[in-house]
Amino acid sequence: MSTIRTCIFPAAGYGTRFLPATKSMPKEMLPILTKPLIQYGVEEAVEAGVKNIGFITGRGKRSLEDHFDKSYELEHQIKGTDKEKSLTGIRNIIEQCTISYTRQKEMKGLGHAVLCGEHFIKTEAFSVILADDLCDNDGDGVMKQMVQMYEKYKCSIVACMEVPREDAHRYGIISGTEEEPGVIRANDLVEKPKPGTEPSNMAVIGRYILTSDIFNILRKLPPGANNEIQLTDALKEQAKNGRVIAYKFKGKRYDCGIVDGFVQATVDLYEKQKS
Ligand code: G1P
Repeated sequence: MSTIRTCIFPAAGYGTRFLPATKSMPKEMLPILTKPLIQYGVEEAVEAGVKNIGFITGRGKRSLEDHFDKSYELEHQIKGTDKEKSLTGIRNIIEQCTISYTRQKEMKGLGHAVLCGEHFIKTEAFSVILADDLCDNDGDGVMKQMVQMYEKYKCSIVACMEVPREDAHRYGIISGTEEEPGVIRANDLVEKPKPGTEPSNMAVIGRYILTSDIFNILRKLPPGANNEIQLTDALKEQAKNGRVIAYKFKGKRYDCGIVDGFVQATVDLYEKQKS
C-alpha cells in the first residue's frame, strides 16, 4: 500500500491564456485528444497509489465536479455499446477514489492553494499535481517514481528538469548537491528568479510530495514573487534543513498551460496512440 494516500490538485486558475475557450469552461477540462487535461493528472496519482483526491477549485468549475461523478443518463444511453469503453478510465477513478472539493476564495498563489487543502490532510505526507504540467512516460508515471523516492528519503520531493537558462524566470529554480545520479538534495530554491540571477537551470515542475509541516510554514509566509504566497518559498525553508529532494524524473513534460505545449502534447499523444 502506498504511503502517499492523498493528492491535492490546485485548479482554481482562470486559464486566461486559453480565452475565449476558457470563458465559461475550466481550463482543466480542455481535452488532449478525448480526455480532459485534469484526468491525465488524476490517473497518474491513482497509478501511484493515491486514494483521496482533493480539488482546490474556484468559481466556474462545476463541470469538473460533474466529470468526476456518475452520469446516469449517459451510462443508460451507451450501455452495451462499444462506447462504454471510453468511460473505463473515469469509471475506475470514481470507483477507487474519494473525491473532495474546496474553494480557493481568493487567488493568492500556489502556496495559498495548497494551504486551502490542509483539511484534506492529517499528519501524513501528501502529493500535489499541477495538471497543466502533463507528464508522459512509458514506464512508471512520474508520481509513482516520486513515491519511490519518498519511501527512500522520507522528506519533501520535487520533480525537476533542466531548462534553457533564458526560460528559468518562468519556474521555481533549485540548487543543491547530488546525492546519487538524478537525485539532488536542495539547499536553495527561488521562485521565478529575475533573468541572469538564477542559481542554476534546474527547474521544479508541477509534481510535489510534501511533508505536512509545510502547512505551518505556508501559514507564516509573506507574499513572494508576483505578490503571491509561493510554495517554492515554503520549500526553501524545508531545504534549509536538508529536507527537500529534487528528483530528475523519467519521462516527458508538456507545459499545457500555454498553447504551444498544449498543441505539442496533443500531437505527440496522437502519434503515440496511432502507432
Ligand atoms: C508553478 C510553480 C513553479 C513551477 C511551475 C512548474 O508556477 O510556482 O515553481 O516551476 O509551476 O510548472 P506557475 O507555472 O503556476 O507560474
